[in-house]
Amino acid sequence: MTQGPTTLFDMRMARSAPDLWPMLERLYGGRADYDAFCRQLAQVLRDGWDARPADLQRLDLMRDLEPDWFQRSQMAGYVFYIDRFAGDLAGVHDRLDYLRDLGISYVHLMPCLMPRPGDSDGGYSVMDYRQINPAHGNMADLERLADALRGRGMSLCIDLVLNHTAKEHDWARRAAAGDPEYQDMYLMFDDDTLPRAYEQSLVEIFPDTAPGSFTHYPEFGKWVWTTFNEHQWDLNWANPRVFLEMVSIMLNLANKGVDVLRLDAVAFMWKRMGTTCQSQPEVHLLLRALRACTRIAASAVIHLEEAIVGPAEMLTYFGRGEHDGRQGNLAYHNSLMVQYWSALATRDTRLMTHVLDTHFPPVLTNATYATYIRCHDDIGWAVTDEDAGALGLSGPAHRAFLSDFYDGSFPGSFARGELFQVNPETGDRRISGSFASLAGLEAGLASGNPGAVDLAIDRILMGHALIASFGGIPLIYMGDELGLTNDHGYLQVPEHAHDSRWLHRPAMDWDRAARASADPASAEGRILHGTRAILQRRRQCDGLHGAHPTQIRDSGNPAVFAFARLAPSGSIVCLFNFTESWQQVSGDWLRFQGVAAMRDILSDATVALHDDMLVLPPYARVWLS
Ligand code: GLC
Ligand code: GLC
Repeated sequence: MTQGPTTLFDMRMARSAPDLWPMLERLYGGRADYDAFCRQLAQVLRDGWDARPADLQRLDLMRDLEPDWFQRSQMAGYVFYIDRFAGDLAGVHDRLDYLRDLGISYVHLMPCLMPRPGDSDGGYSVMDYRQINPAHGNMADLERLADALRGRGMSLCIDLVLNHTAKEHDWARRAAAGDPEYQDMYLMFDDDTLPRAYEQSLVEIFPDTAPGSFTHYPEFGKWVWTTFNEHQWDLNWANPRVFLEMVSIMLNLANKGVDVLRLDAVAFMWKRMGTTCQSQPEVHLLLRALRACTRIAASAVIHLEEAIVGPAEMLTYFGRGEHDGRQGNLAYHNSLMVQYWSALATRDTRLMTHVLDTHFPPVLTNATYATYIRCHDDIGWAVTDEDAGALGLSGPAHRAFLSDFYDGSFPGSFARGELFQVNPETGDRRISGSFASLAGLEAGLASGNPGAVDLAIDRILMGHALIASFGGIPLIYMGDELGLTNDHGYLQVPEHAHDSRWLHRPAMDWDRAARASADPASAEGRILHGTRAILQRRRQCDGLHGAHPTQIRDSGNPAVFAFARLAPSGSIVCLFNFTESWQQVSGDWLRFQGVAAMRDILSDATVALHDDMLVLPPYARVWLS
């Protein structure tokens, strides 16, 4: 009765064919070389599969049998620069116990592939995708680390920059030398007519330090599309050769034992005249096709798509409509992050409730969020005028307030941050600063006021409790479990001084970590032990599985943000007091949400009602079952 594919590879090919070929047909079908391209791609996939080590093929099967492996409450991530955390890849091994004790099961190494020399945008300007940054070690070191992590039940995430390469990449050098085949891998123009026309509708990413989106190179007489920095040349994804090369690179990394590919800056991969050239429909065809390729040749691997965009646009990275559940497995919940900071500054969660309720569905298919409060990048105030307007706020005024609040200039602000990329034309001002400094720890310690320090610690722990329960993989950015404050040392480093994001990319302070561990009563100790406890409770609570619906609830008190996680075993109602005052939520409301036992999972204690009111201390967080 054998019909259909017989080998595992052919079965995988058949399974994902509908996600692959029709997308490619729509992207490249009109080209004379289309059939040849398809044959070459099939060969690249087959080669990738043939080269896949047996233990990873076994992992592919295991994850096919447990496709929710990354949605489980046991998942919790930690994000760091290799050199700043542990020196090099070999050094990371010595720190794995620390991560285990913290409750981490997913490790994101910030860019580890060979960067250009000098300023490389923190490694996001890659000149060789098949080599490790020699300062961190070599490919064998990465494989050893991947092995060690797998042995401990931890996953490995690395960055893959798809939108651009360094101008020192071999393809770029050949292009600069005049080879038309390589020039076609980038977006190059003979004069500035088209660049000027595109610029009419483009949004500048680094207006301060890298103005414009194109760079003119008189040496070879071309204008090159450079969305980010001059040294980062945008790839031409309309050329199928780029697709082919990138799939081969992806599979090579997958076969080293990488579990999660963080696809960097994906929104920018397709350009269309008259648009912002972000999140174009073709981006989703590309991402769905790329996803199909890993599902065929390395199905243990999932894709985290980095698109830091507004709420409605963000959802498209999980595949909306025809692409539903067929694109990214993970995407950053940028809106949750922005709304955390917004509500903290205003002491009012109504905008947060509105945005998260209106734009986000309770469940995602085959996907979950990467939830975070801080990362290595700046914070952009992605609050639309419409959403602000729905709450009677002016969008520009609210965004300006947030920048003033978080750079510390707003009277009474507890935050210490710096502006990033001020754009006088749009009024846009993004913010840099570490979690602890933005949450008030730096100012609190400087003032010597223990009350201010207490509040800052509670803001941090509330943030960690929020990302640990909302649904998705919580990502802790290195040092945020210790309350590391801003590092102004970047001003002394010539390659970094122009980029205030280095303010919140300090080196790990291992002495502080040791003190925190030994002294749970110190400020750093309370943050570390508090964070550990949150992740431990999360791990033990299957109800927080990423596939269980997250329903935003109006607590009736603007100070208190609420949502319910609808687990089959019963709802978990999570409450967060975003103010430094005591707040109340009525027992009636809680019972109406299905809370019967009044048991707080987070503190593992029963909470008492007073006069049928739940009383929440400043910045309280509770997960009621
Ligand atoms: C991503 C990175 C950011 C980098 C940019 C360009 O957004 O997170 O750090 O500057 O891509 O590669
Ligand atoms: C913009 C981009 C994002 C990038 C960031 C770096 O927000 O959309 O991809 O990480 O700039 O600052």
